[in-house]
Amino acid sequence: MHSFGNRVNAVLIFAVTILALMCAMASLSDNLNSPSASAQVQVLKINWFQKQPNGNDEVSMTLNISSDLQSLFTWNTKQVFVFLAAEYETPKNSLNQISLWDGIIPSKEHADFLIHTSNKHRFIDQGSNLRGKEFNLTLHWHVMPKIGKMFVDKLVMPGYRLPEEYR
Ligand SMILES: *[C@@H]1O[C@H](CO)[C@@H](O)[C@H](O)[C@H]1NC(C)=O
Ligand SMILES: *[C@@H]1O[C@H](CO)[C@@H](O)[C@H](O)[C@H]1NC(C)=O
Repeated sequence: MHSFGNRVNAVLIFAVTILALMCAMASLSDNLNSPSASAQVQVLKINWFQKQPNGNDEVSMTLNISSDLQSLFTWNTKQVFVFLAAEYETPKNSLNQISLWDGIIPSKEHADFLIHTSNKHRFIDQGSNLRGKEFNLTLHWHVMPKIGKMFVDKLVMPGYRLPEEYR
């Protein structure tokens, strides 16, 4: 005959097994959801563009960022971290990545947004490579689930260019 302790133990093991199974299914079903995100960014204005005394170029710009990341949200999404990066090539580095803006989207209701802002983080080159420089604006996102692994993706918007002259 089973003792009371044994029964409690068996129930507990059963519960833990079911929970583990549910967690596995949760992260699996989440992975099957293939989201389609959209984003458009306009550089509305170059506020100023200068070479600093130390020789590094710095530019300040006003951006119009519109994005719909609602499809990233499932019942298993805790929040989404997004950042917009300027990405460009220089003789020294094949990829320079400078975060211009970032945010945390707490829910699906906030995932369709329009933001009109000057760059929140400074856009400074490690050198004086920015005049006439072509760059991409890339929206990166990290989806933080309630259960399971973090999911990372991005959307590249190519074809931006900085002015030829400082101003
Ligand atoms: C910003 O972008 C949105 C959506 O693309 C557009 O409707 C709006 O007119 C833009 N704002 C400016 C100031 O250009
Ligand atoms: C910018 O985007 C284009 C097109 O997607 C890509 O070929 C290029 O490598 C990107 N440049 C950088 C520096 O990431």
